[in-house]
Amino acid sequence: MASPKENFTPENCVENYKSIFSKTALSGKVAFITGGGSGIGFTISEVLMRHGCNVAIASRNFAKLQSAQSALQKAVPGAECFIAQMDVRKPAEVKACVDQILSKFNRIDILVNNSAGNFLCLAEGLSSNAYRNVIDIDTVGTFTTSKTVYEAFFKKNGGVIINIGATLHVNGQVLQCHAGSAKAAIEAMTKHLAVEWGPDNVRIVCISPGPIADTVGYSKLGGSVFTEEQIAQSIPIQRVGRRIDIANTVLFAVSDAGSYITGTNLVVDGGAVLTASNGMHGIAQLLNAHSKL
Ligand code: NAP
Ligand code: COA
Repeated sequence: MASPKENFTPENCVENYKSIFSKTALSGKVAFITGGGSGIGFTISEVLMRHGCNVAIASRNFAKLQSAQSALQKAVPGAECFIAQMDVRKPAEVKACVDQILSKFNRIDILVNNSAGNFLCLAEGLSSNAYRNVIDIDTVGTFTTSKTVYEAFFKKNGGVIINIGATLHVNGQVLQCHAGSAKAAIEAMTKHLAVEWGPDNVRIVCISPGPIADTVGYSKLGGSVFTEEQIAQSIPIQRVGRRIDIANTVLFAVSDAGSYITGTNLVVDGGAVLTASNGMHGIAQLLNAHSKL
């Protein structure tokens, strides 16, 4: 079984939630969100639940999942949150997890491949194992989970897969050779699977966030070194992203409103990829602050 990681910060749900989408937009549906116990995945889970969807969240740290489940059930008592421990690098654990979700809910309509691992490191300092580890979690994990859900349910019944990408590879972000390579492959995988599985009524959409405040990814990748104001200056919309920005995009893409979208990448970054630096000039500051995360 996956070895649990002990440390985590309890998550908070959105205060005064409002949406232009109907509360019943996803009634009767079931979503499986990998890494749904924290950060962006947690808020995606919350928003889907707020629109009538039951969810299953899964990752390595069971205590973190229990804490997330309790917060989600308290905030959204009308929908159910199921938890399962698994490591996306272990196909047998992924299969066991999908089997548990199907025995619990009898269906999966939506898969969100959100689990990922990352840290800042120059390519020169990366061991092959470090590079492989991130590819294993992000890229191979996304493939394994997608294929497992496809074989177990989507092939006969259709469904939607959301792959959480990134924009790291677009301009060759410094210190991100491993994660940028992994996310670029996920963007490509989105197209390949959309072509092969479209005739089975399976849509695959990649959603690529820019810097999203109040997440592990953000603090690991520069958010603890530069202020929000400094980061926002180089973003056309003049603010950093929020988890709700990504969750809202997922809601749109999985809903009936998104039914003709497949095989594409939706960049959700306030335009940052068009104007933000690739980090070349902040490299010393970043390296000093994150010599080994
Ligand atoms: P996060 O809270 O650390 O989310 C990552 C999740 O992945 C965690 O819940 C973690 O749970 C899970 N995970 C890690 N390794 C796993 C494994 N081997 N098997 C199963 N689950 C695993 O970070 P986040 O910032 O919200 O990131 C969420 C997604 O957004 C990621 O795909 C990330 O690349 C993407 N993204 C984030 C940003 C940003 O600014 N935050 C920007 C662009 C893209 P366990 O530790 O319990 O396994
Ligand atoms: N810089 C360089 N190499 C690093 C590193 C860092 N900051 N952190 C880990 N590595 C290397 C390790 O040295 C090891 O390589 P080696 O065997 O050649 O020494 C390899 O990566 C695997 O490390 P390990 O700690 O065994 O991996 P893990 O599976 O326990 O953890 C991580 C995976 C490193 C990605 C960990 O940060 C994690 O679990 N992250 C999940 C949350 C997250 O990153 N969220 C942000 C999403 S954007």
